[in-house]
Amino acid sequence: MTGRLIMVSNRIPTEAEPSGGLVVALHDCLTAQGGTWIGSSGEARENPRDGLYQIASGDYDRYAFDLSREEFDSYYLGYANSVLWPLFHRRAELMEVQPGHAAGYLAVNARLAAMLKGFLRPDDVLWIHDYHFLPLAACLRELGVQNRIGFFLHIPFPVASDVPALPEADALTGWIAAHDVFGLQTQADVNRCVILFEQRLGAGISGDGTIAAEGRRFLPLACPIGIDAKGFRAVAEASQAGARISMAPDQKLVLGVDRLDYSKGLVQRFEGFGTYVKTRRDSDPKATLLQIAPPSREDVEAYQDMREALDLTAGNINGEYGEIDWTPIRYIRRPVPRDDLAGLYRRAAAGLVTPLADGMNLVAKEYVAAQDPDDPGVLILSHFAGAAEQMGAALIINPYDAGEMAQALSQALTMPLDERKARHAALWRSVVEQDIGWWTDRFLNALTGRDMAQVA
Ligand code: G6P
Repeated sequence: MTGRLIMVSNRIPTEAEPSGGLVVALHDCLTAQGGTWIGSSGEARENPRDGLYQIASGDYDRYAFDLSREEFDSYYLGYANSVLWPLFHRRAELMEVQPGHAAGYLAVNARLAAMLKGFLRPDDVLWIHDYHFLPLAACLRELGVQNRIGFFLHIPFPVASDVPALPEADALTGWIAAHDVFGLQTQADVNRCVILFEQRLGAGISGDGTIAAEGRRFLPLACPIGIDAKGFRAVAEASQAGARISMAPDQKLVLGVDRLDYSKGLVQRFEGFGTYVKTRRDSDPKATLLQIAPPSREDVEAYQDMREALDLTAGNINGEYGEIDWTPIRYIRRPVPRDDLAGLYRRAAAGLVTPLADGMNLVAKEYVAAQDPDDPGVLILSHFAGAAEQMGAALIINPYDAGEMAQALSQALTMPLDERKARHAALWRSVVEQDIGWWTDRFLNALTGRDMAQVA
């Protein structure tokens, strides 16, 4: 690549070592690759500054832009997180379509496009991330920008039959086709994208994997995101956090780590765990579920509702089944530092990753990376996580079926060592082979035209 790599994502971290799925992935990628990261400063600003301003430099540069209160409400809370997020996660009934929010979303994208136009050099390669910036490339093309532009959607691609629920449905194909490469987490996402173009525009996929539509040609690319697997394993080995959990020797730790989000299936998870507790046979070990769930988007009503439902479910299960010296569910609604998390993953006999819909789910990969290969825990993974496409050696379950979840817990917590090791070895292979470096290379090779034949 001759020009600079410019990454754009909604939220840019201010700390040197960020934590949390997407930002860790981009940080690891830019640290290895060099380049520039541009993103919003994350909160509404009372006195927003004009334009882009540099907030850090080092292995790569970071530039931020501010959002006004109005922009934050319409673009971030409104359109991105109350329209696109629920729709793309197959929860159209949770959409809140409000006057002015789509216009606010488009205006932030147009404003950022104008700032980027002044920033870009002709040979720079632009890589845009996630649903906050779906129309950004189309805005840039309107301004005459010819650079290679790639996009990566970290969340699921919507089902074509849900798309008409989006008032801007007619614009969606134009937004997508403005890119050179449109990256998606799984082959199932690519298939949904292809169906959308077929149904709405009659545009088919060519032999080289590209789609010609809206006056352009773009490549929809299945490119599952990974983690820095070896680095995370080393952090887990060094972490002391697992030792801080005091449990009787015959009790097992089950771990869940998720943003507090309705797509994560937390209420169903608590119910599944409650079913395990209730129906446990003598041969099944006693277990505690430690659920770590830092909140975000707390001003969106659907998040407040699910938080209440979750509190109620945890309270009911603990009240019903808890004992003087044992609490079935321990629920922490705060972030936990990354190296502590790694140690907790390593200590847990089972990782419970049960979203109702999820682009990839990097917790599943982190759980595998953190295990001791000589005595690994068992991953229980929802069929609806993008990760399930690569991680078939996990116990794959239907997160809506509490009985099936309870059975998987019983299987995981009584699984013989040989089977645990064999499953873990297969999972580790996929996590370490298709790691963050593999993801970056695959995407950038496609975007810069280096190995088009290979990726198509
Ligand atoms: C998901 C999205 C990301 C987002 C993250 C945190 O992983 O795909 O784009 O940054 O959630 O969400 P938040 O709204 O708190 O930034």
